[in-house]
This record gives sequence, C-alpha cells and structure tokens, in this order.
Amino acid sequence: MILVAGGAGYIGSHLVKELVKKEKVIVIDNLSTGHQKMVDENAVFVKGDIGDKSFLEEIFASFPIKAVMHFAANSLVGESVLHPKKYYENNVGSTMTLLHVMLKYGVKHLIFSSTAATYGIPTAGIIDETHPTLPITPYGQSKLMVEQIIQDYAKAYDLRFVSFRYFNAAGAHDSGEIGELHSPETHLIPIVLQHLAGVRKKVSIFGDDYDTPDGTCMRDYIHVTDIANAHILALESLLEGNRATAIYNLGNGQGYSVKEIIETCERLTGVKANVDVFERRNGDPARLVASSKKIEQELGWVPKRNIEQIIVSAWKWHQHHKSLGTTIL
Ligand code: UFG
Repeated sequence: MILVAGGAGYIGSHLVKELVKKEKVIVIDNLSTGHQKMVDENAVFVKGDIGDKSFLEEIFASFPIKAVMHFAANSLVGESVLHPKKYYENNVGSTMTLLHVMLKYGVKHLIFSSTAATYGIPTAGIIDETHPTLPITPYGQSKLMVEQIIQDYAKAYDLRFVSFRYFNAAGAHDSGEIGELHSPETHLIPIVLQHLAGVRKKVSIFGDDYDTPDGTCMRDYIHVTDIANAHILALESLLEGNRATAIYNLGNGQGYSVKEIIETCERLTGVKANVDVFERRNGDPARLVASSKKIEQELGWVPKRNIEQIIVSAWKWHQHHKSLGTTIL
C-alpha cells in the first residue's frame, strides 16, 4: 500500500487518481487546504495531520505501507514571507515527524514534493538540477531544508528517495472531475480563467518592468497529470530497487510570460480580458524555466501536454465546477 500525505490537495489528488489504477492507496490529509471530495473513491481516506505522531503511528501500525509520497505542505510564496513560522513548523517540523515514524516502521521509500523555489533568483536561462540553490523565501527555504535532511537520512539510515522540484503546476484532470481549487486563489492561470468566466472583475499583472522580452515574469507551466506520471515512474523505480536517491526538475522547458498566458487564455476561450498592471509581488524571480533532461534520461519521463492543453483542461474544470467564484476579489 502507498501512503499519500496531502493526497486531498491539488497535485496530490491528481497523483492519487492515476496511482489507484496500479496500487492500493491510503490518503492522509488534514484538509487545511485540501478537499476530501477530490480524493478518488478507490483510495482509503483518513483525516489527520502528519505532525501528529500518535496519529501517524496508528496509520503505520494499521496498514502495510511500502512507500510514502509526501505532498502535505503549505505552498504560498508570499504568505511564507509574512508567516515563516507556519512554513518551518508545517513544512519542516511535521516532515521530521513523518520521517521519524517512517523509519520506526521500516518504511524506506519516499517521494517528496519540492519546488523550483529552491533555486531562488536563477543565474541561468534554463535551470538544471546542478544550478545553485539559494532560496529567497521561507517557502523555498523550507523545501530545501527537507531535501537536505532526507539526503542525510538516505546516507545514514538507507532511506531511498526521489525529490521533485516542480515548476508551475497547472491544468486539470482529463476527466474534468478534479482540478485546481485553492482558497484564496493566487495562481495565474486559474485567476485568468475565473475572470474570463465572469466571476472575477479583472486580472492584475504583478509588474511589467522585469528583464524579460515583454517585461512580465516568465514561468514554465507543467500539466498536473504529467507531474503525477513522473511520480509513478519514480515509485516503480524505487520499488524495483533501481534508485537510491535523486533530485529531478519537473517542467516543460518552455517559458511563457504573464502577458502570453493571458493572451493564450483569451484565444482559447474566445473571451477578452480586462487587464491592469499592478506593482511587483514579493519573491517573484523574472524567469523560471526548467531543464528536465535528467529525469528524461534516467526514468524516460517526458511531459505530454503543452500550454494549450494545460489551459483547455483547466478551463473545462473551471466551467464545470460549481464552486467557481467562491474567491472573487
Ligand atoms: N501573477 C500575476 N497576476 C496574478 C497572479 C500571478 O501577474 O494575479 C504572476 C506572478 O507574479 C508570477 C506568475 O504570474 O510572475 C506566476 O504566478 P503564480 O502565482 O501562478 O505562480 P508562482 O510562479 O508564484 O509559484 C508557483 C507555485 C510555487 C512554486 C513556484 C515555483 O505556486 O509553489 O511556482 O516556480 F514555488
């Protein structure tokens, strides 16, 4: 059985929907940001917090867990600057508890959700895993700290892990049944689509004076199901004993500016956006674009969905979801 911590969240729930086709799955989630209705009905769901040691002990004692996928974290860059304590306690402290219980119960396979925010301000156009890690926010720092801890645990306690540095996860499941549902929503693509669906008055571009071709920030958007499939490949590799430790970027290798994303959403939906330019947001690097060659070479992963497919899937989800508009600004 595979334990998915944070499996009711955006990326976790998409992974679970794919993983249940291959493995028995138990999801634990404290539902602080996740939604139980997003968890596939073929998975066992137990509400609880990874920082709660006795809760975790009960789970590990009750289910034959052979690997852990760990998505449970707070992940808002801006919030982490204002509330670093929350990020270090939840993202680092609670992960320590999870690792402690894993080792106590002899579970030695871990797939960890890390982030491109570990790189800080990039010094290269395309970022590979050898790029220096100098995070500029507590969120990025908290993820890097966990990466460092699990690398040390791997050496000392034979923990076997894969750590994924996600670039900008976006899009929704092909079924249209699950998708991105944050409250408040801070991410660009859902904000633009909510606006184009008529439930948000406008879109604000956070800064148009960056050192990029059109002055707005460039990001590498990767479909959430492509991310899910990378996890399944990594799990298979870990369970086959092929891989002890590895860190991989997950991105498409192409950068799109905020303006390009808005224009692509307009083109694909046929709706014109009302856009203004606002001041820069704290902690935003001008450009974050991944090289994912390492995982392509080592595990054979390549992303299958481009920016159009990402936006179309997200639009389908946004149109169908009845809670659309609960976070209108
Ligand atoms: N943006 C706007 N207007 C908005 C929302 C966003 O201009 O209303 C801009 C942001 O300033 C940024 C870009 O759109 O330049 C993308 O912003 P998102 O909030 O969608 O995503 P981020 O790049 O800030 O963050 C995401 C994840 C983080 C992760 C990071 C790593 O949410 O967890 O990618 O690349 F760390």
